[in-house]
Amino acid sequence: MRWKRLLPLTIAWVVSGQSLEDVLTAQSATLSTLNAWLTSQQVAFEILSNVQGVTLLAPSNNALNQLYSSPLYGQLASDPNLLVAFLSYHVLDGIYFMSDIGATQLASLPTFMNMNSYSNVSGGQVIEAVTQNNQVTFVTGNGAQANVEPYDINYVGGTLHIIDSVLTIPSSLTNTLLTGGLTAAVGLLRRAGVESALNLASDVTIFAPNNDAFNAIGSLVNSMTLEQLTTVLNYHVVQGKVLYSQLIAQGSEITASGASINFRIEDGALFVNSARVVVSDVLVGNGVVHILDGVLNPNNSSATPSPSAATQEPAFNGATSTAGGVPFTSAVIVTTTSTANAPAPTTPSPTSPPAVVADAPVVQAPVGVAAVFGGAAMWANL
Ligand SMILES: *[C@@H]1O[C@H](CO)[C@@H](O)[C@H](O)[C@H]1NC(C)=O
Ligand SMILES: *[C@@H]1O[C@H](CO)[C@@H](O)[C@H](O)[C@H]1NC(C)=O
Ligand SMILES: *[C@@H]1O[C@H](CO)[C@@H](O)[C@H](O)[C@H]1NC(C)=O
Repeated sequence: MRWKRLLPLTIAWVVSGQSLEDVLTAQSATLSTLNAWLTSQQVAFEILSNVQGVTLLAPSNNALNQLYSSPLYGQLASDPNLLVAFLSYHVLDGIYFMSDIGATQLASLPTFMNMNSYSNVSGGQVIEAVTQNNQVTFVTGNGAQANVEPYDINYVGGTLHIIDSVLTIPSSLTNTLLTGGLTAAVGLLRRAGVESALNLASDVTIFAPNNDAFNAIGSLVNSMTLEQLTTVLNYHVVQGKVLYSQLIAQGSEITASGASINFRIEDGALFVNSARVVVSDVLVGNGVVHILDGVLNPNNSSATPSPSAATQEPAFNGATSTAGGVPFTSAVIVTTTSTANAPAPTTPSPTSPPAVVADAPVVQAPVGVAAVFGGAAMWANL
């Protein structure tokens, strides 16, 4: 493991005597809107005021004003379960000071959002913390980003950080893939008849090839039997484990097809067999997705990458693209609905991806997630 999992600092932490209400009032320049909202949500406020050993991620006045003018606000107002899920996604299970979060380049932090209708991730859905140039950013569903003020505000229950955008609850696998334009991957799930099962399974890691990857082997996949397609699909799934990139080291992992995939870290990039992870750590309701630039071949686990090459040779001998277009996509219609479970990111699109610092993480992809999800960009453009 290259990044230590952050542990709650239960010993070193010095209790601040201030109540949650005290600190919200003291920070009224940035938190008065939150204070007013929580005051109107008496039950939520009491729970939040009494819970101990936590980190509250407190949306700033600006963040809440954006929320109030987004469709998500209406959904929160009319759906008490969604509101509880939303609030619990803003509470970290453990006390994480900025010095701890900032000391890591990439970490998944557990939240209290563990209700089945919104999370099938054991131990609670996580958020990703990314540090670039001393700026900590939380990356949540569909790559939504929230920047964090660089200080701790301690109170009796733990610590609180101010964020400039509300967090986005990770959506289902299918919704997330469609939002990212990964229509071939969705088409393959449908062709193999496993879309529903894979969306409902708990704790999954999915390696999802992008449309270019499927296009590159179009000549082969169109003639594969259903059994072959299912084996190929299963070779992209690790069940029962949510492998955030921080947990992936050089080595191998057994997939749902029974065959192993091999991980390599080369020149700061993560490869699965010979395919490059172009976007890592896309959070979904039941686990995590890493996006690949190649389709993995269960009969070719010994394929190795050329790390310096921009694109990799397909892992299927003799495969080419066809004039017929990207495989599996003809029946996949991308709708731009934003369901309650998949609120559109409220973060303004970043003007440019954050610069990569000299001691950047080995896997820098969450920044890529933000970059491709920012504005109208889609993963399909990778
Ligand atoms: C979690 O699994 C349950 C049972 O299979 C299902 O009803 C629920 O929709 C799933 N939730 C998510 C977020 O995937
Ligand atoms: C892998 O190779 C075996 C043996 O040659 C073959 O039966 C099978 O169809 C191949 N699988 C795929 C997905 O090509
Ligand atoms: C395995 O993948 C490599 C590319 O990494 C490719 O050159 C080779 O043809 C593939 N072998 C088979 C049997 O598909």
